[in-house]
Amino acid sequence: MQEEIPLIGLGTYLLQGKECRKAVEMALEVGYRHFDTALAYENQEEIGKAIKRFDREELFITSKFFLDRLTHKEGSVEEICNQVLKQLKIDYIDLLLIHWPDRSYPMEEIFAQLWKEVEKGKIRFPGVSNFTEHHLQNLYDVGLKVPYNQIELHPYLTQKKLLNFCDLNRTRVVAYRSFGKGALLKDPTLQAIGSKHGKTAGQVILRWLIQQNIPVIPKGTSEEHLRENFNVFDFKLDASEILTIDQLDRDLRYCDTNWSDFNY
Ligand SMILES: NC(=O)c1ccc[n+]([C@@H]2O[C@H](COP(=O)([O-])OP(=O)(O)OC[C@H]3O[C@@H](n4cnc5c(N)ncnc54)[C@H](OP(=O)(O)O)[C@@H]3O)[C@@H](O)[C@H]2O)c1
Repeated sequence: MQEEIPLIGLGTYLLQGKECRKAVEMALEVGYRHFDTALAYENQEEIGKAIKRFDREELFITSKFFLDRLTHKEGSVEEICNQVLKQLKIDYIDLLLIHWPDRSYPMEEIFAQLWKEVEKGKIRFPGVSNFTEHHLQNLYDVGLKVPYNQIELHPYLTQKKLLNFCDLNRTRVVAYRSFGKGALLKDPTLQAIGSKHGKTAGQVILRWLIQQNIPVIPKGTSEEHLRENFNVFDFKLDASEILTIDQLDRDLRYCDTNWSDFNY
């Protein structure tokens, strides 16, 4: 069993059908062991096919669910777990996240139910995604431990305050959309730092995260991208480079919706 969440995983948002299956199979060959999916991505069956011949114990699988499934689809947290397990054809989920906060639902109660699924062995860790300090505090206040919070995190959105808060409360942050869907790869400062190390801007971003011990899940489709994104363990950024990257922060989100609750 993967004791720790791997530092580099594959994000699979927008990967579907054969393309998804192929990308996951290639990623396994390259060395990826963490796969990030969600019921909303509608690709879990393809991922299930890609991983089926692989040793389950070596993999770390993250999935997520929107709270409105509890009203419109499965009806209970247990049914949601069963649906994820069925689609992926696995018998436990390493990490199951509430995909977005929604204060019209009793999130403390729902999170407590996720811990019940841990007791039953259906999931190893419960977690949340896109939660602010305030959402997290509501869970901590009723005595709930929150092992993971998956958030948008990259040099233009360094989230230092939320990172410190999560650290203090033993909630591990996982970074998503770390290339800003590709936009940050054109940043001249990141490119310049990369060229000093013979690396790309993307590799610099990933290295900046993993040097902070933050797991990250870049999405990639081609073998070239998958290999490049995994090839970040053979160089090190120095303190001044880390500082320069930190200073690129401009509080810019690439993942914001009209129903986001980031100001809570
Ligand atoms: N929890 C949440 O609410 C949430 C929200 C958003 C995303 N996520 C997760 O985070 C993952 C990553 O975020 P994302 O998919 O939105 O965007 P991203 O990882 O920031 O960027 C993906 C884009 O970068 C390109 N890319 C990847 N590697 C590259 C490379 N080495 N060189 C050049 N371009 C490269 C990809 O192209 P190709 O596909 O052509 O390789 C794709 O267009 C998602 O897939 C999903 O699993 C979670």
